[in-house]
Amino acid sequence: MIKKHSLDHSFTVRELEIFDPELEEYTFPYWRQLFRSLGKEIEEKHSPFALTAMSGDGEKVGLLLGGLVGERQRRAVFLSVYVVPHWRGQGVGRALWAAAEEVAGKAGAEIMKVTYLLGKPSIPFLEKILERQEWSDPQLNMYVVGIDVKNIRNAPWMRKCRLPEDYEIILWRDLPQTAIDELIASDAEKPWIPPDLRPMDFFEHCHEESSLALKRQGKVRGWLITHLLNGVLRLSCGFVHPDLQRRGRMFALYAEAARRVEPLGLEEITATVPARHVGMAAFAQRWLKPFSQRFTESRLAVKKLREE
Ligand SMILES: CC(C)(COP(=O)(O)OP(=O)(O)OC[C@H]1O[C@@H](n2cnc3c(N)ncnc32)[C@H](O)[C@@H]1OP(=O)(O)O)[C@@H](O)C(=O)NCCC(=O)NCCS
Repeated sequence: MIKKHSLDHSFTVRELEIFDPELEEYTFPYWRQLFRSLGKEIEEKHSPFALTAMSGDGEKVGLLLGGLVGERQRRAVFLSVYVVPHWRGQGVGRALWAAAEEVAGKAGAEIMKVTYLLGKPSIPFLEKILERQEWSDPQLNMYVVGIDVKNIRNAPWMRKCRLPEDYEIILWRDLPQTAIDELIASDAEKPWIPPDLRPMDFFEHCHEESSLALKRQGKVRGWLITHLLNGVLRLSCGFVHPDLQRRGRMFALYAEAARRVEPLGLEEITATVPARHVGMAAFAQRWLKPFSQRFTESRLAVKKLREE
């Protein structure tokens, strides 16, 4: 069903039912595959929805892409919003946002979330939309670090990362199932894996040649799961057992990943570090920031449609 929102300017907003190739450029490269799956039965983590705005003379002037996730799709994430430059400041962004909230609500979402990177000039306008639409005050969510590969090799901590003899780093894909079972059992016995840093949740579509497990005395006690996107290696999920932290073990994982991707000729590595993991955030500030070419933060805002 196509939904139209008539507004006081000469544009309409409607829900897109199938992928429109002309709008592909209106979302981030990362989300284009998901956008292409709109209207198709494809097994994706997100079930996409999209809203488009069209001017009175038929120009496609904006796109909002979102996804429904989780059990019974009770969470909606707003993944990108874009308005063509000559139509900005005329209410299109907010109209797309309002219509997307409606679509998400009708689809059964109980909570809506958005995360976005700071630094772009139009972020204040996005935050204005959030305020007007009565979303929560945006909070610091992640540090996002971009390091040129040639710099990471020169970082002094790359040299400090020799591991004691009872440690070993192997590719995650080479772990036998028994090792993964042991990891799960150890966490079940005495929880130590943050729920948002479970390596198994990140393994899908990962870069297998640089996704690593850190073993100590034969048991998995750390990991670094990576993704390769548009020639950039993203360090998506890294964690070391709390008892083994602050001893440079994470450096060893970074160094090994950098060494393994070197032959690929990549220029940049990015890492996302959740701000709520205080130790990791401090690590990023102290050890990654000085060697980074880009260091920014992402913010998170939410709006509840009904109690979860
Ligand atoms: C963010 C973006 C989608 C906003 O779209 P938009 O159509 O300009 O949004 P609106 O016209 O609904 O404006 C939203 C608010 O910002 C204000 N605003 C927008 N452009 C403005 C400008 N150039 N100067 C001052 N205020 C501006 C509007 O006045 C409005 O505030 P108000 O409710 O107090 O009047 C648009 O700027 C954009 O596409 N940016 C590039 C992509 C991007 O960065 N997306 C966000 C991350 S995914």
